[in-house]
Amino acid sequence: MTKTRIFSGIQPSAGSLHLGNYIGALMQWRDLQDDYDAVYSVVDMHAITAPQDPAELRANTRATAAQYIAAGVDPSKSTLFIQSHVPAHAQLAWVLNTITGFGEASRMTQFKDKSARQGAEAASVGLFTYPMLMAADILLYDAQVVPVGDDQRQHVELTRDLAARFNSRFGDTFVVPEARILSETARIYDLQDPTSKMSKSAASDNGLIRLLDDPKRTAKKIRSAVTDTEREIRADRQAKPGVTNLLSILSAFTGTPVSALEGSFQGKGYGDLKGEVADAVVAELEPVRARTLELLDDPAELDRLLAVGAERAESIASETLAKVYERIGF
Ligand code: ADP
Ligand code: NA
Repeated sequence: MTKTRIFSGIQPSAGSLHLGNYIGALMQWRDLQDDYDAVYSVVDMHAITAPQDPAELRANTRATAAQYIAAGVDPSKSTLFIQSHVPAHAQLAWVLNTITGFGEASRMTQFKDKSARQGAEAASVGLFTYPMLMAADILLYDAQVVPVGDDQRQHVELTRDLAARFNSRFGDTFVVPEARILSETARIYDLQDPTSKMSKSAASDNGLIRLLDDPKRTAKKIRSAVTDTEREIRADRQAKPGVTNLLSILSAFTGTPVSALEGSFQGKGYGDLKGEVADAVVAELEPVRARTLELLDDPAELDRLLAVGAERAESIASETLAKVYERIGF
């Protein structure tokens, strides 16, 4: 039986990924790669929809790929590649642009949010057409399932609409993919502002755990996490967001359900909780950091792994693109 194909990617817009990326994406990718035919990309073409320094972008792209591998994405099981290495992404995105309505694209809430932040004059047309590039990423590989965070739901919905539209205009070509939305317990919040998602654009550096941070710094950030004025260790997203976040992190790394953790912390204090979370996070991330640095220390080997991935991705993508070009009359 052939395995179900999945596609997912992260933008290389920072040198280090964070704990939210790790729990919400990388850990799940690692688990999915045994049962699925997984295609994982470092989506550098998406990253340039915001201004990037070229040397930094190149370094961040390699560091992101290294972190995928260090976190357990196995290049011999999954197809791991850099988006810009496969020209078909840009080529298919162009075709999809021509079947997307201007109004339809204007309704994408992520564009509205990001362009509002950048300012209407500063925001690029690339930022506007980002969702069609994402649709191309998915459709090139006939991905049936797209594991994403809730914030990407609308883009996957657009991808489905574009696939179905193309199929009805030009004949059956694309697989219409489904989103697989990651569970709420896989969502990690800022340690200093636990009602906001942990994000690389965090207001306070202390709220953000980076995979490549020094372990001592990581432990210190966790021990300084914001909690509340009660003493009770229980999960309650509304009333106790800080404690709930710490429990989610500990649950992700121990495999123990949050309800069982609540029981095991009866009679203990926040200091005990933070101590256990810090130990678990440091134990998990230390080897990831070490392996990443090792990979970055051997550029030839990383290049080799990425070339293998690009070749595999290219062979699938070029076949889809050839079919598309034939259907539209090129
Ligand atoms: P950021 O919010 O830092 O810009 P991205 O949007 O680039 O991160 O996220 C890349 C991947 O990591 C996505 O699959 C997303 O769902 C996941 N992710 C990002 N932040 C979190 C978080 N705080 N908790 C869980 N998953 C997250
Ligand atoms: Na984001």
